[in-house]
Amino acid sequence: MRIETLSIFPEMFETVMATSILGRARQRGALEYVGHDLRNWTHDNHRTVDDEIYGGGPGQLLKPEPVYEALDDLLKDAPATVIIFTPGGEPFNQAMAEELACAQRLLMICGRYEGFDERVYSLAHRQISLGDYVLTGGELAAMVVSDAVCRLLPGVLGSDLSIVDDSFSQGLLEYPQYTRPETYRGQQVPEVLLSGNHAAIDKWRRKMSIIKTAELRPDLLAASGLSEAEIQKALEEE
Ligand code: ADE
Repeated sequence: MRIETLSIFPEMFETVMATSILGRARQRGALEYVGHDLRNWTHDNHRTVDDEIYGGGPGQLLKPEPVYEALDDLLKDAPATVIIFTPGGEPFNQAMAEELACAQRLLMICGRYEGFDERVYSLAHRQISLGDYVLTGGELAAMVVSDAVCRLLPGVLGSDLSIVDDSFSQGLLEYPQYTRPETYRGQQVPEVLLSGNHAAIDKWRRKMSIIKTAELRPDLLAASGLSEAEIQKALEEE
């Protein structure tokens, strides 16, 4: 996959895109990353990207021309899925990460100030929000989406099985997991996990996924498609 970002702060991406899983994915060639500076598509000495808002109001908006001209250049030889980050977009989730992981090329446009001139949004295939809060810009959102998408690419994580059990991938939160020591500050690893009985472990994990989801994210449980009987059984066994 190729990920490109268009931002007035391309330097914000350097560490994230070079560290840990994303950095290794790039070294191995599973991920290509290019950060573009929006100011490269301005024509004045101050490299101006923003302007006042028609009709009045506080702050400045990002002008349409640099973004339109950037996309003219960047999309002239190959298509891309174009994403704009905005608090008014579709809330990002794991299903969306899975869809985006199928794209060949993602071009992520990051806003600042009060957002973009309205005409810019029509350039995007998708408008994505990280959640119901306002960030100072779309760069952090682009990093979050890049991270969530990149770990789904074939061969990027050590074991593809670790993706299947992720929280959200089955509509439930992931079951609790433990490592050594067996007892820590009076808290014991559940007996079944030490038993070596894989069928019993699978059953316990499924039950604990349901219990954890019911406690922390009842909204997910309602949407999970699990039968009322299976949910009740797990909760009663707790
Ligand atoms: N830009 C500002 N706030 C944002 C949010 N919540 N999600 C995505 N982009 C943003």
